Amino acid sequence: MTAIANAVAEQFGLTTRQLGPGFFAEIGGVDLSQHLSAATISEIREALNRHGVLLFRGQRLSEADQVRFSRQFGELMGHVLTQYLHPRHPEILVVSNIQENGRNIGLADAGHHWHADLTYLAEPSLGSLLYAREVPETGGDTLFADLAGAYDALPQEVKDRIESLQAVHLYLDTYERLRKENSQRPELTEEQWASLPDVLHPVVAIHPESGRRTLYVSEGFTSHIPGIPREESDELLSYLFAHSTSDAFLYRHRWEKGDLLFWDNRRTVHKAAGGYALPQRRLMHRTTIKGTRPTGP
Ligand code: SIN
Repeated sequence: MTAIANAVAEQFGLTTRQLGPGFFAEIGGVDLSQHLSAATISEIREALNRHGVLLFRGQRLSEADQVRFSRQFGELMGHVLTQYLHPRHPEILVVSNIQENGRNIGLADAGHHWHADLTYLAEPSLGSLLYAREVPETGGDTLFADLAGAYDALPQEVKDRIESLQAVHLYLDTYERLRKENSQRPELTEEQWASLPDVLHPVVAIHPESGRRTLYVSEGFTSHIPGIPREESDELLSYLFAHSTSDAFLYRHRWEKGDLLFWDNRRTVHKAAGGYALPQRRLMHRTTIKGTRPTGP
């Protein structure tokens, strides 16, 4: 296939198959290792804005291919855990349970909680691309939830209540909790701590491309809503977390080697389901695209 598939796609457009409830689509007829025209890139971008998560099956990508394809959608971001960036391609975060010389080659427990990537930064991520290089026979799924669908389904009185609220997002609480659960997580250096101040984001964000309203909170990184009593903030956030990740807005992806998922961090949250252990190996490469500061209504 390769160049021929891309020539066909350019003539007839990409194929799209909806998989999740109101979001998550499989895109066919395109080989991401090849040069793609500006028209195809813009079609993929439109599909991302329409669906929120895109699945490209059966890809054969080198690290350089993944970086090149990802760059078509914006500047790439690193990660505070620099020790897990790919040694030759630092634009790639290695997510893996594989150990070499007694050390993890990647972040073994990445995303074991609901989150959108890097919302603890002032300018969080637009979207991430996760490419499956090795997958376990059982376990290792990733769950996705649609925050635009979840917002639309909220009762009007909740929409009114949260319309102009802001919430604090932070990395450190979650990091320390994960470190207690998994002693292999390294202690953060002073420099890493200092690079992660708390940030405020609107609870309801306007998607900068589709114009849709989304809930912009996640259990992993949203800590509290300042300006209201802590108990009230905890109660409201717990309600929003549970609502947004309830079955109606959920899709579970069972990975196959060669899958590349491209998700919109401005519209979805995700969670790694776990459920596998060595000698079952899982090796995923993530590239993360920079976004803009979220804005509310
Ligand atoms: C992530 O949160 O970026 C990783 C998700 C996964 O490994 O399934």
